[in-house]
Amino acid sequence: MADIGLFEAIYTARAIRHLRPDPVPDELIEKVIDAGIRAPSAVNYQNWIFVVVKDPALRARIGQLYREAGERIRSEYSARLSDRPQHLSEAGFQRIMSSAAYLREHLGEAPVLLLACLRARKADQAVGGAGGRVPAMTQRTASASIYPAVQNMILACRALGLGTVLTTLHTFAEDEIKSLLHLPAEVTTYALLPIGFPQQGYKHGPVPRLPLEQVTFLDTMDRPWRQR
Ligand SMILES: Cc1cc2nc3c(=O)[nH]c(=O)nc-3n(C[C@H](O)[C@H](O)[C@H](O)COP(=O)(O)O)c2cc1C
Repeated sequence: MADIGLFEAIYTARAIRHLRPDPVPDELIEKVIDAGIRAPSAVNYQNWIFVVVKDPALRARIGQLYREAGERIRSEYSARLSDRPQHLSEAGFQRIMSSAAYLREHLGEAPVLLLACLRARKADQAVGGAGGRVPAMTQRTASASIYPAVQNMILACRALGLGTVLTTLHTFAEDEIKSLLHLPAEVTTYALLPIGFPQQGYKHGPVPRLPLEQVTFLDTMDRPWRQR
């Protein structure tokens, strides 16, 4: 496989939810995780944990929990879910919705489900009290200590020709998933990455984003970075 450059990976690591069930060699998964653990974390604690779920029965059960979480969300948050971001066309919005719906039905068929988790530090557990969950106070620092690793893994997948997407829907079934994977109370799951080779017709490609001049300012927020 030809190496691709960093910027090509960044510009083409789009969400891929249509994955082939074919196994992914462990050496590729190790490369992905090895890229993940190069990420920064607060005070370089590196209190991350990655669970690679390959067992078919576990994947099927997580897939079922993910689907059920999706059904619950769709009934409880239907208004929010149909709130199309202004910058997306109706067709573009529907493409995301139907791709996400496909994943809800097929998550368990991905050959690898990679859970990116954080173990609460002793100090945080003291603040968090029983259950040891990361308290709200440190939630931002906690998230910022795992999502850079997740993005590194997304880029590594892209470079290796593997499809993936950052998902969080599983957090609505957090307790069941933790018990299924024997995760202790002080471990919190932050992202579930289904990983596999992309199905035909679902290649990596451009990630459409708002232009930088719409989101960037110079010195103060009333001064656009680039005057139009
Ligand atoms: C915090 C976060 C949570 C997400 N959760 C889900 C999810 O639960 N299910 C899903 O299918 N996609 C999920 N996504 C993927 C987004 O829909 C996707 O990154 C976005 O639409 C951009 O896709 P693109 O890179 O292909 O343009 C999530 C992304 C982020 C950053």
